[in-house]
Amino acid sequence: MTAQRGGFSTRIGFILAAAGSAVGLGNIWKFPFEVGKGGGAAFVVMYLAFCFILCFPVMVAEISIGRKTQLNPVGAFKSLGYKRWSIIGYLGLASGILILSFYNVVAAWAFGYFIDILNGQFSVGGEAFGAYTADWIKIGGYAVIFMIGTAFVVSKGISGGIEKAAKILMPTLFIMILGLIVYAMTLPNAMEGLKFYLVPEFSEITGPVVYSALGQAFFSLSLGMGALITYGSYVAKDNNIVSSAASITLVDVGVAVLAGFMIFPFVFSQGIEPNGGPGLIFATLPGVFQSLGDVLGIVVGALFFLLLSFAAFTSTISLLEVPTAYVVDEHKVSRTKACWGVAIAIFVVGIPSLLSYGASESLGEFIQLPGTDNPMPFLDFVGVIANDTFLPLGGFLIAVFTIYVWRKENFNKELAEGDAEIKGSWLQSYVNFALSYICPILLGVIFIVTVFDKFFGVKLMSMLLG
Ligand code: PFF
Repeated sequence: MTAQRGGFSTRIGFILAAAGSAVGLGNIWKFPFEVGKGGGAAFVVMYLAFCFILCFPVMVAEISIGRKTQLNPVGAFKSLGYKRWSIIGYLGLASGILILSFYNVVAAWAFGYFIDILNGQFSVGGEAFGAYTADWIKIGGYAVIFMIGTAFVVSKGISGGIEKAAKILMPTLFIMILGLIVYAMTLPNAMEGLKFYLVPEFSEITGPVVYSALGQAFFSLSLGMGALITYGSYVAKDNNIVSSAASITLVDVGVAVLAGFMIFPFVFSQGIEPNGGPGLIFATLPGVFQSLGDVLGIVVGALFFLLLSFAAFTSTISLLEVPTAYVVDEHKVSRTKACWGVAIAIFVVGIPSLLSYGASESLGEFIQLPGTDNPMPFLDFVGVIANDTFLPLGGFLIAVFTIYVWRKENFNKELAEGDAEIKGSWLQSYVNFALSYICPILLGVIFIVTVFDKFFGVKLMSMLLG
């Protein structure tokens, strides 16, 4: 670990920071509405299977590449001697920049709801949500604050910034979720919500459900864009990679599952349909909170949106760290200059997303993808490109690279550093097998299916599954 790059000071610090990257809007905002759209428990089952079977091995590969090279995703492939494969790093940089550009806007919605509710203002229903997001000056202001906070932490470096923030925010987040679940369980119809969430209807599993569950698993675990290569590059050689990856996966999946225990009782207590899409949390939950009365409503509502903001914050930090590490390592710019420069650039890239939810009609109806009924906003389109397309492609390339280019033996050697027992264990065999066959095949297929579906309107998966 070179002095100027710094590193995580403890193993738990690394696990919390990486889990902080993973746990985010993806778990608390996106997961419940995907479950709602995907028919409830059937989606949950698919998501869990993908996280453990497919994503966990990719996470191990990413951390290993990072720790071996102690470099950002572009530099990592170069330093292993495979300059051409640094295309994975560039793809990751592009994904990170695109994701942060819109993620920061959604984070600003959450943070703004927190401030509003604290002031006794509840935006209830879809229309109020629409009016809220259309106020681009206000949301823009919150987005600036969120980005400044993110850049501030990243500018402080790994142990003094990212690790410290995660050590405070992650335990707080956990306590807030548990408190809200206990409260949600006391609401009328809570059991109906749990039933929807926990009893699978396997007939609900259709093609789009399968690949949106995979996309969700990837996005949720921050995989496929080199975020974990970057965090892995700050990990000490005596850290056990496989067990760290297992802990990170468990925390992330655990928080997503817990978020469902909180959201569905809330939603069903109001007799609301759970398939409300991206507005599920923003449009419906304020009504739930308001109905709790002045004091309790403000406390529970503000707590919820603060929780969402914290979760988003540890993720925006990791999203900004990826391009920052690249500029620091490859262009020898100081961390402070690199991170503020990159933050400003990404904020600018995010302006069309900011304007696409009500402020500008043309950005709001930016593009109509083939086979869909309505044009989608710019923000959603960036999500389709980065989350649904680039991440599975990145994951596919990382799996192929690790086993067939860098080679299994070198990968296993890196795993054995800091883990005396991994050699010859079933876990190592499984990770090797998954990265050799399951990940390339499934991720390759899903990538092709997604491209055909989203960009050409051809439903390959439905044709296959009938
Ligand atoms: N995992 C984050 C979430 O679930 O909200 C999103 C994310 C963060 C994706 C960092 C990718 C990444 F590199």
